[in-house]
Amino acid sequence: MEGMKSHPPAPTPKPAVPPPRATVSAVEMGARQREISVSEFFTKNRHLLGFDSPRKALLTCVKEAVDNALDACEEAGILPDVVVKVEAVANGEAPPPASQASRFRITVTDNGPGIVRQQIPPIFAKLLYGSKFHRLRMSRGQQGIGISAAGMYGQLTTGKPVQITSRTSARAPAHYFEVQIDTKKNEPRILEKKQIAWESPRGTQVTMEIEGRYQKGRASVDEYIEQTIIANSHVKLTYVPPEGETKEYARSYEQLPPAPREIKPHPYGIELGMLLKMLQDTRSHSLSGFLASDFSRVSPNVAAEICKAARLSPNARPRDVHGQAAENLYKAIQSTKIMAPPTNCLSPIGEPAILAGLYRQIKGEFYTAVTRPPAVYRGNPFVIEAGLAFGRAPEQAAQTPATKAIPLAEGEAEKDDHEVARIIRYANRVPLLYQPAACEITKAVLDTTWRNYGVAQSRGSLPAGPMVIFVHMASVWVPFTSESKEAIAEYDEIHKEITLALRECGRRLGAFLRRRERAHSEFRRRNIFELYIEEIVQSCNRLKGGRLATAKLRDQLLKMATKITGGGKTDELLGKNGSGPEGLPHSIIVTPEGVEGEVPVVAPNGAPAAEEPVAPPAAPEARAPRKTKGKATPKPRAGRKKKR
Ligand SMILES: Nc1ncnc2c1ncn2[C@@H]1O[C@H](COP(=O)(O)OP(=O)(O)OP(=O)(O)O)[C@@H](O)[C@H]1O
Ligand SMILES: [Mg+2]
Repeated sequence: MEGMKSHPPAPTPKPAVPPPRATVSAVEMGARQREISVSEFFTKNRHLLGFDSPRKALLTCVKEAVDNALDACEEAGILPDVVVKVEAVANGEAPPPASQASRFRITVTDNGPGIVRQQIPPIFAKLLYGSKFHRLRMSRGQQGIGISAAGMYGQLTTGKPVQITSRTSARAPAHYFEVQIDTKKNEPRILEKKQIAWESPRGTQVTMEIEGRYQKGRASVDEYIEQTIIANSHVKLTYVPPEGETKEYARSYEQLPPAPREIKPHPYGIELGMLLKMLQDTRSHSLSGFLASDFSRVSPNVAAEICKAARLSPNARPRDVHGQAAENLYKAIQSTKIMAPPTNCLSPIGEPAILAGLYRQIKGEFYTAVTRPPAVYRGNPFVIEAGLAFGRAPEQAAQTPATKAIPLAEGEAEKDDHEVARIIRYANRVPLLYQPAACEITKAVLDTTWRNYGVAQSRGSLPAGPMVIFVHMASVWVPFTSESKEAIAEYDEIHKEITLALRECGRRLGAFLRRRERAHSEFRRRNIFELYIEEIVQSCNRLKGGRLATAKLRDQLLKMATKITGGGKTDELLGKNGSGPEGLPHSIIVTPEGVEGEVPVVAPNGAPAAEEPVAPPAAPEARAPRKTKGKATPKPRAGRKKKR
């Protein structure tokens, strides 16, 4: 302000004469109108598709290609075997170190069904072209934008075309293509096509060169791969990162998830505009026929009931139903009682596979998983699944010093207050790595009162402690908050289901923690008794003039000490003998002595399938790899107890 005082007073402005405004006629404006192609639109708005920063762009490209590979394999009934390779590309001389590189080549290879030759150019170089948009069936992809947008981003930032090799069977030749998008027309431009010799008998390989940034940690390609493995135990994946060692993730579940069926839309889920369009497009000749054949859960009886409520003739021609009549029909549908949609269109991961995934990738002491029964939002069926991995692996717990260097102040909690739970979110088996705060899953975790289950939690924040919370939403249509598919939108029904699943996991965790605490205190008590038994035996013997059967008395007293301190139960809870986490369904407890509960590891011929995690997962589980203690890794056994 003082500086301003020293300025000379501003000259009083002369009354300005506004310059004459250029006027534009409607004809001139009309001449400027032009169609905008979808590719041009998304070139300008690439942030809508997840290409807003170089780091995120790298992840999005990998994710789109991997999601497609897994979708294709599963749809064709093939156990997926996917190779992901990310290389730093030289911008002139030798390739720079990955952390400084700004250009990457991404290659994703699958053993899927392959793609027929004619379809390759539009799939990879035409936006809004795909096989999944027009059907109601659970799949990772939905929109028909994913892979062509990734290719377009590469083209935009490096000028390089997308390279595709695909083969549909060992008897068919492999086709190689180089394609780019003609963004003006949203049509593919083929730069190269030929038949080549390819070692794979079947599958697809796509290579893109893009501008990106590689950095490990949260929301990185590495994290995406690790989380993908947790929710997709049936996938074999090889990841060749731009630096460091290749990671091999073996399959830990030797079965494909059940193939989801395609369903018709449920009447409660459609909007008026959609109903109008369906009335125009239907092949049925009568209104009741249209209702019964184009929707799920509408029987001829229900169709008749709807027509009656709408005061429309069941024999009316669907095309003639518009205006007020269509609105009446829409209202009648909403007020008629119709069965919930069928749920065979969904393929939840299932408790055993969630447990297997969490157990393999995250170190902990307690694991549990819950799959909720199907529910419906806006007419779309969905299933919520939740899981928990709690604590540190026994060997890590042993490494942490029992007593802190600085004594705790009065009232100070002994727990590690700085460590909070990590949430891993999934939609149709795809990890969601961005926008956690906008996601319904995060909101439901925050709204759950974790203190009820013995876990510390400050108001409005995540529960404290070493804990990973897994939540999966499986649906024919996941309501994402944007096209980049990062966060799940708020719906009451979804919130309720997530909350119920989390509470069940929480209850089991609470039961585990309570029991373990009780067992610990009983065990301490028993140790104290045992400490004095020898004294007592000797004293009694002296009183009896040395004529007592001391060995027998010692034995009896030891038995009594065990009995009054919880007996075998205490041993069991502390893992000193093993019979599984009783009363805790779909749970695993890990103790220094072994693993309690079923570790679902299904391998061909019952051979051990699970390998040690090749790399420690991202924080907070970025702990030392699990030690095998010479007894090897979890062996596939049908029994309740496994020793490691
Ligand atoms: N690796 C592959 N193997 C076989 N078919 C594939 C493969 N990748 C893509 N496709 C086919 O190409 C189509 C277009 O893929 P794209 O990723 O553009 O869209 P999408 O997966 O349908 O939806 P989204 O935009 O949500 O990813 C897919 O629907 C699928 O039919
Ligand atoms: Mg896709």
